[in-house]
Amino acid sequence: MDIKQIFENNNKWVQEKLNRESGYFNSLSKGQNPDILYIGCSDSRVTAEELMGVSPGEAFVFRNIANMVPNTDLGAMSVINYAVLHLHVEHIVVCGHYYCGGVKAAMQSQDLGILNPWLRNIRDVYRTHRVELNGIDDEEQRYKRLVELNVQEQCINVIKTAEVQRAYRDSTIMVHGWVFDIHSGKLIDLEIDFPEILKNVMEIYRLE
Ligand code: CO
Repeated sequence: MDIKQIFENNNKWVQEKLNRESGYFNSLSKGQNPDILYIGCSDSRVTAEELMGVSPGEAFVFRNIANMVPNTDLGAMSVINYAVLHLHVEHIVVCGHYYCGGVKAAMQSQDLGILNPWLRNIRDVYRTHRVELNGIDDEEQRYKRLVELNVQEQCINVIKTAEVQRAYRDSTIMVHGWVFDIHSGKLIDLEIDFPEILKNVMEIYRLE
């Protein structure tokens, strides 16, 4: 890719926006008021705004390899803190995707250096659900199921935070687990039963 092309694209984009609405960037510069925090994978095929059909200002976005929310990751914890306490988002979404390279790598035993501790978080998800996963003979189906279970576990990590627990108690927030199916382009709502999960999580992780 020619990097110069990006600046040409940008100029074109600015013109298009201004042609449609002359005060567009002026209003954008006044501040953001997104309703949704989207936590997704860095995968170049899974673009947050485009697949949701939202515009700049509508989604607060955090992406990393395999849409992880590790409890000690300062980036993830800061994003959640800011989104909940300062932006007052109403929804937090963890969106995984089938054929995720991060999840695939975690299913293999290769030593990948600095990636190892990151992938270990996904291996922990596998260990937690190994009975179900080992019961799936078809490797592709097992891989897809691990993607879904990883989304569920990252949603649980979101719910473990004090900010989300408090907002959940005040009924000001909803947590959602989605998967983007690259094959069809469709978003799938995993319809995770949060009240039930929350009951189990709270027994151990409850914070006042
Ligand atoms: Co991915």
